[in-house]
Amino acid sequence: MSAPENTRILLGITGGIAAYKSAELVRRLVADGCEVEVAMTEAACSFITPVTLQALSGRPVWTDLWDDRARGAMAHIELVRGRSLMLVAPATADFIARLATGQADDLLSTAALARDCPLAVAPAMNRQMWEHPATRRNVERLRGDGVEIWGPDEGDQACGETGMGRMLEPERLAEFVARALRPRLLNGLRVLVTAGPTFERIDAVRGITNQSSGKMGYAVARAAWEAGAEVTLVSGPTALVPPPVARVVQVESAQQMASAVNAFVPDIDIFVSVAAVADYHVLNPSEQKIKKDAHILTLELAPNTDILAAVAALADPPYCVGFAAESENLDEFAEAKRRRKRLPLLAANLVQEAFGVDDNALVLFDDEGRHPLPRASKLEQARQLIAHIARRYQPA
Ligand code: CTP
Repeated sequence: MSAPENTRILLGITGGIAAYKSAELVRRLVADGCEVEVAMTEAACSFITPVTLQALSGRPVWTDLWDDRARGAMAHIELVRGRSLMLVAPATADFIARLATGQADDLLSTAALARDCPLAVAPAMNRQMWEHPATRRNVERLRGDGVEIWGPDEGDQACGETGMGRMLEPERLAEFVARALRPRLLNGLRVLVTAGPTFERIDAVRGITNQSSGKMGYAVARAAWEAGAEVTLVSGPTALVPPPVARVVQVESAQQMASAVNAFVPDIDIFVSVAAVADYHVLNPSEQKIKKDAHILTLELAPNTDILAAVAALADPPYCVGFAAESENLDEFAEAKRRRKRLPLLAANLVQEAFGVDDNALVLFDDEGRHPLPRASKLEQARQLIAHIARRYQPA
């Protein structure tokens, strides 16, 4: 991700088996450019040693309310001042209960009360403990207090059971941290993103597709999610792991993509059409694998509907953003495409520079002209695109 400058995180670790994953979380956050200060409960120190966390964070680890490093000040106050975020991962059922009732009987619970930064917890416990009415009540109370609850996940548990209660994986927690650190530019807005290539069947095993990796569309979905939007991602076939958005719909053909988009369009505010949709489909795909013979094989191709143009032409369209991959005359072709499809905003780039690679050089076109974005990673460019959309978007 790459955290904003001066990101200072207080990571609290409580006594659960998932504490071993916190070591990886610290490593990731530090790699992302965060300064991570770790505070552990006494029970956490039975699962993982402070030395491990100290080595990974590069900073001394706090375990004691009476720590004399606070130099005259109080450790719990010292710990939370100037923080961007306090995250407790793993958060046990016991710690959640103590937070919910506002207890302050150790360093971490006291710091949680004394903080002036946002607080998030990543619960980790046995599935029955998670489902217990007392835990449900405590979690709801924390939500009501403005605490973010990240997870838990479903799956195999250390106790041998299977269900809800696993701590989110460190990679996912790092994504939630990235979101917590960014401004909520699209808070509560519903955003639909299409991504990836489409695949048009020729026969049982073959098809027509293109070289889109889906990276840009997935980056746009992630950036919209980070900005607080409720995101639906409609994706053609890709090898990518989707971001933790509200909904991911996997499709294959342009026709399936059009159906998925049409189902969501009445309930969205913004549509960002990043998918490289095939312009044609095979008229009569064969159910069976076509056998080779010595003759020329002719495929009949029929045009696909233009999903984006159809949405933009609706009587009450969402705010529509198109993408254009051009191989020459970028400005002229992109602006012509924007006008033809009647889009308020179009992001364009040169195919030679964009397909399959991790960074990108987008130029945005809207009624106010041309806005080149500085060359950056696809995620960084997607964030800038989202910021531009947030400035331009006006609710109906
Ligand atoms: N698009 C779409 N449905 C299609 C074709 C394209 O929604 N059947 C969308 C793409 O997601 C993209 C935009 O339209 O946002 C531009 O697509 P592109 O294929 O570059 O434009 P075309 O109008 O097909 O023009 P050309 O192929 O001639 O460049």
